[in-house]
Amino acid sequence: MSKVLYIQASPRQERSYCIKLGNSFVETYSKTHPGDEILTMPLFEKELPAFDGLAVRAKYTILHGQDHTSEELSAWKAVEAVIQEFKAADKYLLAAPMWNFGIPYRLKQYLDLIVQPGYTFSFSPEEGYKGLVIGKPLCIAYSRGGEYPEDSPADFQKKHLETIFGFIGFANIQSVIVEPTLAGGPETAQKKLIEAMRKAQAIAESF
Ligand SMILES: Cc1cc2nc3c(=O)[nH]c(=O)nc-3n(C[C@H](O)[C@H](O)[C@H](O)COP(=O)(O)O)c2cc1C
Repeated sequence: MSKVLYIQASPRQERSYCIKLGNSFVETYSKTHPGDEILTMPLFEKELPAFDGLAVRAKYTILHGQDHTSEELSAWKAVEAVIQEFKAADKYLLAAPMWNFGIPYRLKQYLDLIVQPGYTFSFSPEEGYKGLVIGKPLCIAYSRGGEYPEDSPADFQKKHLETIFGFIGFANIQSVIVEPTLAGGPETAQKKLIEAMRKAQAIAESF
């Protein structure tokens, strides 16, 4: 039995295009993989620890084996808990909207929490950087108000997510995009959503 972590990075829930896309993936996946577990993580409703001065200080003192305060230790334990929860999954589905050409701040906060040396990547002078989350598939469902071709210089959403997840070890990243959700009007958005849902369902069948 596999555990699928379904990260929802839009706060718009049932109105969100990327979540509609993610949900259609889940619907097909549940039929084709009965017995697997889907853990849904709505990031805007989840309590995430701040990655602030205390957490950064805790990271350096603890990872460098230096003396640390109990306050630092508990700040780092809270970060570790988020990382462990992430790493416990076997497969990943992420629903991510484009905000200001990039990703919503809550998703950025989540990434800043989970991308940590010794946990999700390693570094050595001999081998350089190595991702530690390996052999696990990821599907990313994107939504965008406008339209962005694959090589668009304004796309800091898909390129960023593929880079950061690739950095921590993901080699199998599939994507499905619904766009434009705003610029073409509601009818176009609905048509594009249906097309994207078909693709999401096809990915889900053999995920
Ligand atoms: C804060 C914010 C910033 C946005 N910035 C962009 C943007 O830079 N480019 C774009 O094409 N759409 C942008 N949009 C529109 C969203 O990408 C669009 O509404 C998308 O459908 C949102 O995803 P969701 O429907 O899954 O919540 C923005 C929306 C919000 C709320």
